[in-house]
Amino acid sequence: MKVSSKFIYTFGALGGLLFGYDTGVISGAILFIQKQLHLSSWTEGIVVSAVLFGAIFGAAVISPLSDKLGRRKMVLTSAAIFFLGSLGSAFATSTGFLIAARVILGIAVGGASALVPMYLSEVAPAKARGSLSGLNQLMIMTGILLAYVVNFIFSGSVIGWRLMLGFAAIPAAILFIGTLLLPESPRFLVREGRIAEAKAVLAQIRTTDEAKAELAEMQDQFATTKMGTFKDLFTKFARPALTIGIGLAILQQIMGCNTVLYYAPTIFKNVGLGSSAALIGTIGIGIANVIITAIAVSAMDKFGRKTLLTFGGIGMAVSLAALAVLVHFSAGSAVMGWLTVLFLAIYIMFFCATWGPILWIMIGEIFPLAIRGLGVGISSVINWIANLGVALFFPSLLAKFGIGDLFAAFAIICVVAIVFVHAKVFETRGKSLEEIEGHLHKLAGDTPAKAVTGLNTNLANIAK
Ligand code: BGC
Repeated sequence: MKVSSKFIYTFGALGGLLFGYDTGVISGAILFIQKQLHLSSWTEGIVVSAVLFGAIFGAAVISPLSDKLGRRKMVLTSAAIFFLGSLGSAFATSTGFLIAARVILGIAVGGASALVPMYLSEVAPAKARGSLSGLNQLMIMTGILLAYVVNFIFSGSVIGWRLMLGFAAIPAAILFIGTLLLPESPRFLVREGRIAEAKAVLAQIRTTDEAKAELAEMQDQFATTKMGTFKDLFTKFARPALTIGIGLAILQQIMGCNTVLYYAPTIFKNVGLGSSAALIGTIGIGIANVIITAIAVSAMDKFGRKTLLTFGGIGMAVSLAALAVLVHFSAGSAVMGWLTVLFLAIYIMFFCATWGPILWIMIGEIFPLAIRGLGVGISSVINWIANLGVALFFPSLLAKFGIGDLFAAFAIICVVAIVFVHAKVFETRGKSLEEIEGHLHKLAGDTPAKAVTGLNTNLANIAK
């Protein structure tokens, strides 16, 4: 069955919704799980972070497999794992069972985190790739919001936490069915030599002329492409992409996005809002995040990625520095408390508009086709490890240094991030994936002969 390009982009991005839902839902559910399963603070930590452990493993295994078996098959596999992991969590009979189900769920989360941006960047036309690939982040933020709302709805029920965790089975089933109708990525098909199929997919999502030109460019460049290996990631040709992928992945987490998101409700309480007002405040922030992400994603191809990363880094650094100062001097004043809320919101806005989406957009587009699944997988693994590291260390760092000093440290990391962007990141906006690959060859100083016998690419394209 032929589906429209809107369908392809929507369902192609839907894995992001599950990513967001499954990472967001636990903050509400854990309060109930802890009471019913009598968790110690140690087991509580494991239940919460089990998804992160699974995600590291999922990104490491599922994404590279997509170089071999195709993007679509691995999205289907992830959807099936999402479904099983969600039901497993909902029906868990013991803490051990729940932890196992959440690790399984995490495998799907990690897989989706790498597959979705890669699939979207491979089906999107170059001129709109930022916006289309950014749909991933929009889905992540929508998933987080959905989790807040579902948590709110089910919080009155005795089996509330089971409903909260099990609810994810519904979007997982929708993702599975939708993906059955999705076409395979045309770039993967060309690399496999399945030209007629690639042509048919392009005919679905491009005008006749565009399809012809794009297919010619892909064929021209990928005719000699073999699937790469782990070693190829470290060649002179692929190294700049790896540096960007890993650098952005670590920085995105250690600039504090998740701790600030998680810390927001506590800040609300600290400024004197009651528990339920704090919860509504959280949903309010969730709605604002979705709106800001939507606006930012729709404008994503109007500005360079580097410009946006720099702009976001400055915005976050300034708001964090303001937060650090406020926390030091705000002892109990209501005005200072509200100013804290304001700068927290500004920080989150800058993150949602820049580093949130752009990390995933860029790791989906900078790696050469022969090792794209591998490269995206590694970057995603590193992002999850950094995420886990921050989650594990934040509580003890908080106890030792206090939130003010941590805000200051995050501000400094934002400045480091800006320096990194200027030193290592190259601009990808508006370039086709083939042009980006050509740029990597140019950076490596490949001669035409080497480029053809190397991973892929013929240098005629590089000169363009
Ligand atoms: C980050 C996640 C984060 C999410 C929502 C993603 O881009 O990688 O760690 O939870 O955005 O802010």
